[in-house]
Amino acid sequence: MSRRVPSRRPAESSSLPLFGSLNQKSKASPILSVALVVVGAILLIGYSYSGSGVSTSVRDSLSGEGVSCTLEVQHAIPVLKKVYGDSMRKVLHVGPDTCTVVSRLLKEDDTEAWGVEPYDLEDADGNCKSLVRKGFVRAADIKFSLPYRPKSFSLVITTDTVDYLTPKYLNKTIPDLARVSTDGLVIFAGYPGQHRAKVSELPKFGRPAKSRSASWWLRYFISAGLKENEAATKKFEQAATKMSYKPGCQIFHLSS
Ligand SMILES: *[C@@H]1O[C@H](CO)[C@@H](O)[C@H](O)[C@H]1NC(C)=O
Repeated sequence: MSRRVPSRRPAESSSLPLFGSLNQKSKASPILSVALVVVGAILLIGYSYSGSGVSTSVRDSLSGEGVSCTLEVQHAIPVLKKVYGDSMRKVLHVGPDTCTVVSRLLKEDDTEAWGVEPYDLEDADGNCKSLVRKGFVRAADIKFSLPYRPKSFSLVITTDTVDYLTPKYLNKTIPDLARVSTDGLVIFAGYPGQHRAKVSELPKFGRPAKSRSASWWLRYFISAGLKENEAATKKFEQAATKMSYKPGCQIFHLSS
């Protein structure tokens, strides 16, 4: 007994560092390989972005990667005109880069357009600054009531906005968008799993986009007492098919 104990001790203590180093190795190697994969992925992503250069926005709108629904709305305008007709007379767009949407809408005959930019307009370009000066575009925090009287617009369109709001704020913002419109509210939301916001947009919103499924939205609209405009939804689908337009975003039509 007394002989075995001392003889075991050195054996144990010598085997411990060995086990220790084995453990370390088997722990370190998965971490190392994960790190290598991550670095590789970053390099690949960086390469594909730098490779695409000027065509990034075109590619984005085609491939569904890094989709901006604000870009998407510009493709959807002809379809929306078919659906809403006269209701496109006085349009309010709410969302980032609203100047681009307002400029595009103002090119349409018989359409007046205004825009609410959820974030500051400090780095706006000349065209945008001019829209701000003329009172077409203003910055406003969409988490609060919009600075417009009820029924100020015939149609309200919002893009790249609802994905960033928690249900608590959705409860305030969506009814408020409906409040300022007479003929309807069109919501562009991202598809789940889509890579959404450009990284440069994240600080603006303070939280990343959370794209919800169509069934989540439809359940949400019902629970919040918002009514889907079924006639407009149907008309939009028909017109989109006819015009070979495939939306890169989910588009919901609500009644005012
Ligand atoms: C949003 O409003 C609905 C209906 O009034 C309510 O049932 C729900 O709890 C609200 N959600 C939040 C997060 O406040």
